[in-house]
Amino acid sequence: MKGIVLAGGAGTRLYPMTSVTSKQLLPVYDKPLVFYPLSVLMLAGIRDILIISTPQDIHNFEQLFDDGSRYGINLSYAVQPEPNGLAQAFVVGESFIDGQSCALILGDNIFYGNGLTRHLEHCASKTEGATLFAYYVEDPERFGVVEVDEKGRAVSLEEKPVHPRSNYCVTGLYFYDERVSEFARRVVPSARGEYEITDLNKLYLEDGCLDVITLGRGYTWLDAGTITSLYQAGEFVRVLQEHQGLIIAALEEVAYYNKWIDREQLRQAALAYGKSEYGAHLMKVAESRIVR
Ligand code: DAU
Repeated sequence: MKGIVLAGGAGTRLYPMTSVTSKQLLPVYDKPLVFYPLSVLMLAGIRDILIISTPQDIHNFEQLFDDGSRYGINLSYAVQPEPNGLAQAFVVGESFIDGQSCALILGDNIFYGNGLTRHLEHCASKTEGATLFAYYVEDPERFGVVEVDEKGRAVSLEEKPVHPRSNYCVTGLYFYDERVSEFARRVVPSARGEYEITDLNKLYLEDGCLDVITLGRGYTWLDAGTITSLYQAGEFVRVLQEHQGLIIAALEEVAYYNKWIDREQLRQAALAYGKSEYGAHLMKVAESRIVR
């Protein structure tokens, strides 16, 4: 399975912070926002990952991550010329996907919770259909909304409805089978002129092969796309990390536990981070001073 991190968009809601950089490179406490979604794909066991961003920002991502080998993954980069909608990721990324199944995660989404890795591994092993993750929110009208029946099956999908049919929003993590680029090409622009991910998901729903996993109260999902939510996300990460002495979304740590890099590579990575807490944490992991 392949993976895409979509990290484009105009970022105007975060001006002036995003005047000269991308939203997904802004800090969430101690690391750039994009570390969090990238770590989710890695936890799913996905090693071939495409980062899509704007023509002006893509080079910053390349500079940050390079070819991904220090995390034991293969990173490629592509440009979305205009932010014309999330479903475009599968058209921009069609040659990268190369007829395989593919996961997509939005570059401003943060997922956290015990058991998440199990869900992710399950989705990555599926070969047919699509899987979405639903999350109960107070303000569903701000998101894609999924209505599910008593057996947990999707009944309807709507993008930012004025009168939502449920409180379950569709989070920014999606798993699709190998038909995804073909389905994405069938999506036409919505009333607001975007190739909507919700319309792509509707094609899978109509095809009778859309699964929905509900992330319950034990999970945290944050969309860090506004000033307040970005600030809240940073605070969430700070509290958890300080309380437990762990680091969320330490990419080299995920790579080490996945056995994609060895202890010596982890040690070298730790040293490269200088005196930072992130580097000190990696060193603790390398010296087995961390409870997993
Ligand atoms: O976060 C979950 C929500 O994400 C879903 O519930 C919605 O169904 C989905 O449409 C999306 O809604 P948003 O309002 O959050 O979408 P937004 O336009 O803010 O884009 C999400 C991220 O993707 C954002 O970080 C910018 C990036 N993006 C967006 C567009 C439209 C791109 O990279 N390219 C694009 O063309």
